[in-house]
Amino acid sequence: MYPKNRMRRLRATEGLRDMVEETTVRTSDLILPIFFDETLDEIRTTPSMPGVVTYPLKDFDNIASEITESGVRNVIVFGVPSEKDPYGKQAYSANGVVQRAIRGLKDCSDLTVIADLCLCEYTDHGHCGVLHDGHVENDETLELYAETAISQADAGADMIAPSGMMDGQVTAIRDALDRSGHSMTPIMAYSAKYCSAFYGPFRDVACSCLGRGNRKEYQMQCGNRREAIREAMLDVEEGADIIMVKPAMSYLDIIRDLRERTEVPIAAYQVSGEYAMIKAAATNGWVNGTAIMKESIQSIKRAGADIVITYFAKEMAELLR
Ligand code: PBG
Repeated sequence: MYPKNRMRRLRATEGLRDMVEETTVRTSDLILPIFFDETLDEIRTTPSMPGVVTYPLKDFDNIASEITESGVRNVIVFGVPSEKDPYGKQAYSANGVVQRAIRGLKDCSDLTVIADLCLCEYTDHGHCGVLHDGHVENDETLELYAETAISQADAGADMIAPSGMMDGQVTAIRDALDRSGHSMTPIMAYSAKYCSAFYGPFRDVACSCLGRGNRKEYQMQCGNRREAIREAMLDVEEGADIIMVKPAMSYLDIIRDLRERTEVPIAAYQVSGEYAMIKAAATNGWVNGTAIMKESIQSIKRAGADIVITYFAKEMAELLR
């Protein structure tokens, strides 16, 4: 007659709701992407990424304390070099923009500093590797990734995050790190990185727009689910310490698939387009930006991610305090 099972009983008060909340977000789960441009003298803003700034290579104290004061403990660093060339040489220069940024941050803070490893911000054609007849050459690119990993670890990076989607990149980087005295430096592999239109605003910030072509020959096509499992399994076999799904919100099923098949920690990248859409709607007053930020990050964790890379990290950390 009356329902014996009343789901509403445990929803009746805030105390009860909190008690049975299954998924929570902690500040230590969050990674904030940050950008450095060695041609800058002052901070640069990007209209398509409100709230995201690109830093010049100075005042590391201020940059680090602004981040740590929000509560954020982890950052992933991207660099914009002053010079680009076909081989992306500035990506693996000991004095490259990212190497200097890592050193600067490590010298003055306890932040966990992760280095994104890719060539697309450093090549004049904008591809993630070396071009041959208009195609990215896999194995030659791996050698440059290996060099880049060593230079980033030498600079003090706490973790290396290869995002170029070359086959065998985790093996190449693990070998390089091990033979250069960095056997304890973990790898967070962008394992299932889709060829996504959600990266648009990132390319405005990181100045990594493609001259010609697209990234379909190495990034995954968005309809594929089984392939993501193969990618991730290969990365785990190759020694990835953490695997990543990117973007996050349109790929929550992939996060769940991987959660059910692997024991390694899973990261998910809430990418620039996801952030920009929420910010744009919130700025117009069309949605409640704070509520959507929280809901979106929580849903990524509920899908199975342990770690969320997000441009909201500072705002979210402040909300959690
Ligand atoms: C570099 C890289 C990209 C992003 C992270 N690392 C750009 C790309 O693949 O085009 C995108 C991040 C974002 O959109 O927030 N390969």
